Amino acid sequence: MCGIIGVTGDPEALGILLEGLHRLEYRGYDSAGVALVVAGDEIWRKRRAGGTKSLPELVAAVGDAPRGVACGIGHNWWATHGGPTERNAHPHTDASGKLALVHNGIIDNYRELAATLPQGGAELTSDTDSEVLAHYVAGKMATGLGLADAVRSALRDVHGKFSIGVVHVDEPELIVGARRGSPLICGLNDTTAFLASDIPAIHGKADEFFVIDDERVVELTPGAVRITTLLGDEVEPERREVTWNLASAEKGGYPDFMLKEIHEQPDAVRDTLLGRIDNGVVALDSTELTEEDLRRIDKIFVVGCGTSFNAGLVGELAIEHWAKVPVKSEVASEFRYRDPVLTPTSLVVAISQSGESLDTMEAVTFAKRQSAKVLTVCNVVDSSMARDSDAVIYTHAGPEICVASTKTHVAQIAALNLLALQLAQARGTLYPEEAAHLVRDLQLVPDKIAAAMAQSGHVKAVAEKYRDIRDVFFIGRQVGRALAQEGALKLKELSYVRAEAYPAGELKHGPIALIEEGTLVVAIATKSRLLDKIISNIQEVKARGASILAIATDDGDGNVDPRIADLADDVFSVPYAGHELFTPMVDVVPLQLFAYYLAKARGNDVDKPRNLAKTVTVE
Ligand code: G6P
Repeated sequence: MCGIIGVTGDPEALGILLEGLHRLEYRGYDSAGVALVVAGDEIWRKRRAGGTKSLPELVAAVGDAPRGVACGIGHNWWATHGGPTERNAHPHTDASGKLALVHNGIIDNYRELAATLPQGGAELTSDTDSEVLAHYVAGKMATGLGLADAVRSALRDVHGKFSIGVVHVDEPELIVGARRGSPLICGLNDTTAFLASDIPAIHGKADEFFVIDDERVVELTPGAVRITTLLGDEVEPERREVTWNLASAEKGGYPDFMLKEIHEQPDAVRDTLLGRIDNGVVALDSTELTEEDLRRIDKIFVVGCGTSFNAGLVGELAIEHWAKVPVKSEVASEFRYRDPVLTPTSLVVAISQSGESLDTMEAVTFAKRQSAKVLTVCNVVDSSMARDSDAVIYTHAGPEICVASTKTHVAQIAALNLLALQLAQARGTLYPEEAAHLVRDLQLVPDKIAAAMAQSGHVKAVAEKYRDIRDVFFIGRQVGRALAQEGALKLKELSYVRAEAYPAGELKHGPIALIEEGTLVVAIATKSRLLDKIISNIQEVKARGASILAIATDDGDGNVDPRIADLADDVFSVPYAGHELFTPMVDVVPLQLFAYYLAKARGNDVDKPRNLAKTVTVE
C-alpha cells in the first residue's frame, strides 16, 4: 500500500506534491518520488528510497526541478514487488520517458501483460508490477488512443487491485486516475484539480472533494473533473462531505502524532457515543439492520487485523455476555480460507480503522457472497468496507495518522459495546434498568481515560528503566487477555522488543519455561471476577525471577490491592471503568504510553515504525 498524490493547474505543483507526500507518509515510506509533466519534452522525475529518510532526501534533491510546471504526480511506497530501491521506486515511466505512472495495489497478471510488451518487456528497468502497467498504457497510446482512453483500455485487461495516477507530456494538463479496490479521492478548486489516496493530503487546497468508486476512471484538468466507467460511460461525480478541519490532522503542539492521538482518546470515545444513547437506550444511527434482523441473528463472527482485531476480542466477550449470541473472533486473513459456516442469519462484524485493509475487505466480500449480513465498524467515512457492508457503525475518532492505532482502538471498543448493548435490548437479554445503568457508566468512560493519562510522567520513568529489555510477556484473563495482546502489539510495533501475550492461566502449560531472572512480565491485574486467579499467576512468575509490572485498579484513594502492591516491582494504577467489559478502554492507556516512551528512549520513530504501514492493501 502506498500514498498517491497528483495536482494539475498550479505552477507550485512540486511544492504541493511534496507537502502531500509528507501528509501521506503514514501510508508507506520505503521510497518517495515525484514526476512533473514538462509539455512536449520528457517527464522530469526524482525518486529516493531509504525508509523514513526517503522523503527528506527527495526534498533535498529537487533543486534542479524545472520551474513553474503546473502538473505532476507523486508517490510514497510500502514495498511489495521488488526491494525498496530507487530503481523500483515510483513514479515509473514508459520506455520513451513521456508517460509517468504511480500505483497503489497489486497487478496480479503483470507477467502476462509484460509478455505482450515489445521483446517481452526487455525495456523494463525495475522489478515492479507497476512499471509493467506504465509500459502497457503507453502501448495502448501507440495504437492512436489518447491518455484517458489508453488507461481505460489497459485497465480492462488488468487483474488485481489498484489505484493509479498517470500523466503524459503530450497532454500536459491532464491527470488520469483510476480505482479498483484501493482508496482514491479527488478534489477541486476554481483553477486546480487534485488526486490523492486520502483527504488529508489535499485538505486546505481543494474546496470540494469527490468519491471515486471502484471500476471508475477520473480525468482531472485544471478546475475540472470528469468520471467515467472503464468503458467510457460518463458518471455523475459524487461529492464527499468533510466535517473535520486540517488542524485535527496536524500535530497541534505534540512532538508526534502518536502522543497527540493518545490524548485525543477521551474525545474519540465521547464522539463515538454521541447521539447514540437516548434516555438510557442505545440507538445506533448508522446500522441499517432492523430490530427483526438483530433478533434473528444466531451466530456472529468478528474479524479484523492488528489493533482492530484486538478490539474485536473485547467485542466478542461483550456480545456473548450481554446479548447471549455465540461469537467467534478471528484474524481476517485466516477467516475466509477455512470455510466458516455462514448463513443468512449469521452476522459478520468487520472492524477496521481505515475500512481499506485488504484482508478484512476480502472477509467482507466472502461473507456477503455466503449470504451473511455484514456490519462494519470503521473510522473512515465512505471507505470501501463501509460502502460494501449492510450496515456501518462509524467511530468518530477523527483522522488517525500515526501508523500504530490508539484512539481508534478505544473508539472501536466503545462502538462494539454499544452494539452488544443494542443487540441485548433487541433480544431482550437485559432488563431496561440494567441497560440504562450500563450506558450511564459507559458515558463516564471518557473521563476515566483522561484520568488514566495523568500518570504519564510515572510511565515514562518506568519505560526508561526498561529501555534495554529484550523479552516481555503480557498476561491477562478474559478482557485482560485482549488488553495483554494489544499491549504486546504496541510494544512490538513501536519499540521492536520481543513481546508475547498469553492468557495468564495458560502460562503454566509451557511458556513459563521461558521465564528467568529479570524477564519482564506485564500483568493486567485490574478489578475483575478473576483478580484472585491473576494474582496467583503473578506469584508463579515472580517465584521464577520475573520482574513484575502490574496494571491495577486505583481504589479511589490512590491505593491498589495490597497483594499487587507487594508483588509488583512497578504499578500503573488506573481508575475503574464501571464495568469489566469497559476496562480495556481505560487500562490500555498506560500500555500505550509505556510502548511510546520505551520506543522514544530507544530513539525510534514512533509515528513511522520500521516495516509497517498504516493501511495494508495487499494480502
Ligand atoms: C496495519 C497497521 C496496524 C493496523 C492494521 C489494521 O497492519 O500497521 O496498526 O491495526 O493495519 O488496520 P485497519 O485500518 O484495518 O484497522
